[in-house]
Amino acid sequence: MATKIISGTEIAKQIREELKTEVAEMKEKHGVTPGLVTVLVGESPASVSYVTAKQRTAHDLGFHSVQDNQPEDITEDDLVALIEKYNQDPAIHGILVQLPLPRHIEESRIIFAIDPDKDVDGFHPVNVGKMVIGEQCFLPCTPAGIMEMIIRTGIETSGAEAVIVGRSNIVGKPMANLMLQKREGGNATVTLCHTRTKDMAFHTRRADILIVAAGRPKVVTADMVKEGVAVIDVGVNRIGKTPEGKAILCGDVDFEAVKEKASAITPVPGGVGPMTITMLMKNTVQAARQISGIA
Ligand SMILES: NC(=O)c1ccc[n+]([C@@H]2O[C@H](COP(=O)([O-])OP(=O)(O)OC[C@H]3O[C@@H](n4cnc5c(N)ncnc54)[C@H](OP(=O)(O)O)[C@@H]3O)[C@@H](O)[C@H]2O)c1
Repeated sequence: MATKIISGTEIAKQIREELKTEVAEMKEKHGVTPGLVTVLVGESPASVSYVTAKQRTAHDLGFHSVQDNQPEDITEDDLVALIEKYNQDPAIHGILVQLPLPRHIEESRIIFAIDPDKDVDGFHPVNVGKMVIGEQCFLPCTPAGIMEMIIRTGIETSGAEAVIVGRSNIVGKPMANLMLQKREGGNATVTLCHTRTKDMAFHTRRADILIVAAGRPKVVTADMVKEGVAVIDVGVNRIGKTPEGKAILCGDVDFEAVKEKASAITPVPGGVGPMTITMLMKNTVQAARQISGIA
């Protein structure tokens, strides 16, 4: 059986088309334009490129989009005050603060300051708590994007052995939670691996679905997976530069070797990455609907 290469780029394109139609309809029928602010503190090149991509996508979808750049030395109090301003702004439905923040700012205080109704990154504890108990909420964008990929590709999760490598708050932990929810894309038997896991290959070899978010280039090799596994590679590792100065990326999975055994696999780049931004847009549309009382 040929291996299916799951194109996040294609699935994201499909969802963006759906969102474009939805946004046009919201504007026409309800006079509501989804509004997204992205707050960038400092000028780290990676953060600048992420925020630029988010703004470009928001703009393409017809959002009201605001890019708010703040200096590296902004105080924590001033950043909280800025967020409170956007919490009150009726034209803004989604607030995204690009992480990581400079060391002198406590990230949790900033995340907690965002109105949970505008927390389109899904990091506020109110949304995290709702996700865990299966209530409607803003899901964190990367795990939400992975769920969309799994569902739209038709990968069977019910009763499957799902193994997740990585236990971060933004990927591994929410991913594990979503896969064990009692609903579409869930109902899996979930194992979560991390650096203290004794024999990781023992677990990964049992996986029907393997999701890897370790941030270590090619940490999953072909001998660590079974025939027919579906693999979602979340990792984005910069392993060098082209002569033109463009970053060379690779995932956490040895793509070329693992694809020979897998039934389906995501590439890097072009896999999970485009889905993350798209889910941010989807969350913003959802926020605009909820805040404006559109069913
Ligand atoms: N494509 C996207 O949109 C997107 C979004 C988010 C993240 N990412 C990428 O995904 C990767 C993970 O991101 P993250 O934020 O979750 O990273 P993170 O906060 O650094 O967490 C990495 C996790 O992987 C575990 N880990 C690391 N090396 C391991 C190993 N050799 N064996 C088993 N577990 C190991 C760590 O275990 P401990 O907890 O024990 O330290 C930790 O739980 C990164 O490459 C990141 O760039 C991509």
